[in-house]
Amino acid sequence: MAPDDFAFLARLLRRRSGLSLTLDKKALAMRRLEPVMRRFDFKDMDGLIGELRLGREALAEAVTEAMTVNESSFFRDTAMFRTLRETVLPRLVAARAQSKRLRIWSAACAAGQEPYSIAIFLSQMGLTREGWNIDLIATDLSGEAIARAEAGRYAACEIERGLDPHAMRYFRRERSEWVVDAALRRMVTFKRFNLLDSFGWLDDMDIVFCRNVLMYFDTATRMDVLDRIADTMAPDGLLILGENDTLDRAGFSPSADGPGFYAKSRATILRLG
Ligand SMILES: C[S@@+](CC[C@H](N)C(=O)[O-])C[C@H]1O[C@@H](n2cnc3c(N)ncnc32)[C@H](O)[C@@H]1O
Repeated sequence: MAPDDFAFLARLLRRRSGLSLTLDKKALAMRRLEPVMRRFDFKDMDGLIGELRLGREALAEAVTEAMTVNESSFFRDTAMFRTLRETVLPRLVAARAQSKRLRIWSAACAAGQEPYSIAIFLSQMGLTREGWNIDLIATDLSGEAIARAEAGRYAACEIERGLDPHAMRYFRRERSEWVVDAALRRMVTFKRFNLLDSFGWLDDMDIVFCRNVLMYFDTATRMDVLDRIADTMAPDGLLILGENDTLDRAGFSPSADGPGFYAKSRATILRLG
């Protein structure tokens, strides 16, 4: 791929998804774009890039999807999920005992493993039985990932990777796949949503999970997304990042809950209200 074509591709991906595509990822990018090239019947990358430059939306969308990394697993990061179950959720439930309302956002949910893991904890705590009003919103840029999440169908290896026997009760086997239980499925609202778009509809979040996605963004994009996430959060809300994510934003301070947990800083609360 010619250098100016690669530079164009990198700009297109940054604008569409925030992905920071550097030259050292060129071979990887080419490998990922090959299936798109075949699907859209291009003989070579020059043809594909030429058509992208003409603004063909379906192609731009397919290219963006092909470059997303949808890797995830149930209860990914055992220590974080243990803290969530043993400390964070019980404290939040006590704090919201009056309103009986919880709002949780899984901001890059891939094929649903993260929100379903959270839903399993909430269900095990018996909150829905006790009349709690729970909004568990799960979003992702990738339409394919959201479709998989909504279907709630997983390969045996995906289920066996993170689920203990208690959690496996929320799935039933259908031939080679495991299907999520209908009641658990109803607890999660899935929506295709780009973190670069307006967060206007998101408000008063008690917990925001934004794990293993910010690391694909450049610093300016990461800081902008973090600023806007802070704005969606309740004053005592928590942000949860992934093990490999860095927080280069003063708007949050590390929470005493441990690695990966962040609270809104006092200055941010005063600024955003
Ligand atoms: C590596 S997965 C992380 C999934 C899950 N949060 C976890 O930690 O296991 C990254 C996800 O971020 C999504 N993503 C990438 N760019 C995005 C954007 N601009 N807006 C929303 N989601 C995005 C990808 O589609 C992918 O599903």
